[in-house]
Amino acid sequence: MLSNDTSQPSSKLDHQLARARDVLRDGRKIAVFTGAGVSAESGVPTFRDLGGFWSRFPPEQFAHWEGLQRLIRDKPLLVAEFVVELLRPIIAARPNPAHESIADLERRDKTVDVITQNIDGLHQRAGSRHVIEIHGSVFETIFLARTGNHVRRLTLDALSATVEELEALLRAGRSSPAEFLNAARGLFGNGASGVYRPNIVLFGDQLPSIAWDKAVEVAATCDCLLIIGTSHLVYPAASIPAIARSSGAKIIAVGLDQCTCDFWLQGPAGRLVPSLITDI
Ligand code: OAD
Repeated sequence: MLSNDTSQPSSKLDHQLARARDVLRDGRKIAVFTGAGVSAESGVPTFRDLGGFWSRFPPEQFAHWEGLQRLIRDKPLLVAEFVVELLRPIIAARPNPAHESIADLERRDKTVDVITQNIDGLHQRAGSRHVIEIHGSVFETIFLARTGNHVRRLTLDALSATVEELEALLRAGRSSPAEFLNAARGLFGNGASGVYRPNIVLFGDQLPSIAWDKAVEVAATCDCLLIIGTSHLVYPAASIPAIARSSGAKIIAVGLDQCTCDFWLQGPAGRLVPSLITDI
């Protein structure tokens, strides 16, 4: 019997859950590798599901900085819409039971590192202490200075204020490039210490090297990798499971799409991650 369209038959799922729980219980060094699916039930859209973010904002146009710069010049209102649609759900989101259970895993006698492709800060808000953000964070801007890049934290209030200014442009139904840049000055600009922009990784960017090196080290030394809610389509992030596997780690995957793993728990993260972790 299926419990819903996207889940395994319950007997098979229960069996996989029990075996995966044993592996997690025995593991001392746990790595958790997450993608957009872990935040879907917090209301943050995924990228590639039906109606996902990239279907509304084609990545060829929006997912690289040169494209965005061109669009700010030619269609600033469209960029305002893109930024608002990206940030508004993140600002409104709260950690869901999957994020909370992952944070809770740290209270067991284990080392837990979270490698996330997400830019929404929800793992930290749930209480996870060791989070490696390999695609950056919307809560940071990066200053690209000749003397070296540096990163500045942004508060939720600062992000909300920017979104409100951009929403005012959208309500007005028109914007010049200068009006866009003024409304978005909390994110993009030319400050005393150099040009700055959101510290997120878009296509064609190098991953932040400190974060990526740490992610590779964590994957190569864990005894268990728990993968949650990713399509495994974006590299180099998608090589994390292979790194863990080649070092002998057991792989548990939770999500809607099957991947190469020892145990696959098919279904929504907000329900299955707590079932997996609660009795550890
Ligand atoms: P995708 O949108 O590519 O994949 C999301 C995955 O989550 C899919 O496998 C979904 O089936 C699954 N999913 C959806 N809802 C779920 C739920 N409730 N529970 C569990 N799984 C669920 O997102 P990512 O794999 O994170 O990069 O995408 C990777 C990167 O592509 C992103 O970090 C971003 C994007 O372009 C950059 O922008 C560099």
